[in-house]
Amino acid sequence: MSRHKADVFIYLSPERKCTTPMSSPFENKIDNGRPLSIIVIGASGDLALRKIMPALFSLYCRDFLPKEFHIVGFARTTMTNEDFRERVTRRLTCRYTPEASRCAEQMDAFLNRCTYVAGDYSSSESFRQLHSELEHLDPEGKENRIFYMSIPPFLFLDVAHAFTGADLMHREGDAGWSRVVVEKPFGRDRASSDELTASMSQVFREEQTYRIDHYLGKEVIQNLMVLRFSNLIFDPIWHRNIIENVSISWSEELGLEGRAGYFDEYGIIRDVVQNHLLQILALIAMEPPIGLDAEHIRAEKLKVLQCVSPVELENLVVGQYTEGGGKVGYLEEDGVPKDSITPTFAAAVLHINNRRWDGVPFILRAGKALNTSNTEIRILFRAMPGNIFSAASGHLKPNELVIRVQPDARIYIRINNKVPGLGMELGNSELDLSYAQAFDAIIPEAYESLLLDVLRGDRSLFIPSKELEVAWDVFTPALHALEEQGIVPESYPLAGCGPDKAIELGERYGFPI
Ligand code: BG6
Repeated sequence: MSRHKADVFIYLSPERKCTTPMSSPFENKIDNGRPLSIIVIGASGDLALRKIMPALFSLYCRDFLPKEFHIVGFARTTMTNEDFRERVTRRLTCRYTPEASRCAEQMDAFLNRCTYVAGDYSSSESFRQLHSELEHLDPEGKENRIFYMSIPPFLFLDVAHAFTGADLMHREGDAGWSRVVVEKPFGRDRASSDELTASMSQVFREEQTYRIDHYLGKEVIQNLMVLRFSNLIFDPIWHRNIIENVSISWSEELGLEGRAGYFDEYGIIRDVVQNHLLQILALIAMEPPIGLDAEHIRAEKLKVLQCVSPVELENLVVGQYTEGGGKVGYLEEDGVPKDSITPTFAAAVLHINNRRWDGVPFILRAGKALNTSNTEIRILFRAMPGNIFSAASGHLKPNELVIRVQPDARIYIRINNKVPGLGMELGNSELDLSYAQAFDAIIPEAYESLLLDVLRGDRSLFIPSKELEVAWDVFTPALHALEEQGIVPESYPLAGCGPDKAIELGERYGFPI
């Protein structure tokens, strides 16, 4: 019998680190035959400069970009190519090539490929100028193109219409492919999302559209399917008979960071819960896909999301931070209306009505301006029935699997042990896989990983329109009810633990505090 390529055993001990040298069947080759143009719409904005350009630079340093590539920034701000390069340089770091001389060389080479076009988002004329720049860079017009929409959602449609006027997407003959990456939030509710999808589909075909949720590019989130579907030990216990509840929580110490205009319009449910946290829920709860093709993974995520009941108001707590630690509260932030009822915190208990999860509550919690920045999935197992140690001294706790996404990537299982010594005292310990100790590898940024997928044409981790519809169906009724009833979020102090009612909600469903 031939030995499968992936049958490589890696023994991990604290002394010996794993350097993962295996060649992987998943490392699809990049299409190197054609040049590539990456067009960043909204290139002067925070996301583009902080995340997208550095991610492209890292891909370049690791030889993941084709030999011939260009990056064209497009935004309203008037800038020369040099100004743009200067802004980009400030955000670049050499994560993969720390030697200073090599790093400087790579930065120069990368920046030389960056140019900039200033224009108006709703003007076809501006996009025609962009078109000319692309033609100038690749006169044969055979290059592949990625358009990255790093712009606020209210501009999507303007840009899409201007695109049509400039004929940027529809290319004839031997032209390469064109793909468009769109950032969330995709709409404000089910109806506006459907409208946006319909209008955008007149310009971009669904198979060209990559709706990005950067949480799906995070290393630990990418490990979820591997953890669940390649480790037999988890298979029989991933079930309502063994699992008591699941909590997926996200907290951030930061408040608005100057994003009042966007945030007050959307709030934490649309900003984080309906997308990042619901996506994590789908990966935790879905059935095993029949294979790793995008369509198989998407099919299972869709199925499980279709089983999630719409959130009910009685299972939802919303909060808004007030001042604390010398910092201003939400209502005093610049740009926030004084009577805003936009939530900066939300906790929602969701139910999945299928055979695997019936009766298991999933709590999704997200909050800004809290006492810690942390993203964690906690899977609490049921208590051992008829436990013969219940009378022993010490602490007996149900087992718990904790998957920490950030700040420190880590997976651990809480188990009960005999505390060493004479007598029978029990205690809890952790079987711990800390990424920093186990892997001698640089953890890629989420955007690096997802941009590489776009380049490879792998759509597994991008949100198809059908999934978007279902995700909105889970939250739209509650979002409408909050707004129609003018429900005022419960106040919680900045740098605290969030609203008391969220703790009560957790207690009601048996979540440990
Ligand atoms: C973004 C939200 O999608 O995710 C922000 O719009 C949030 O409000 C951010 O701060 C958090 O991302 P990360 O990767 O820093 O946890």
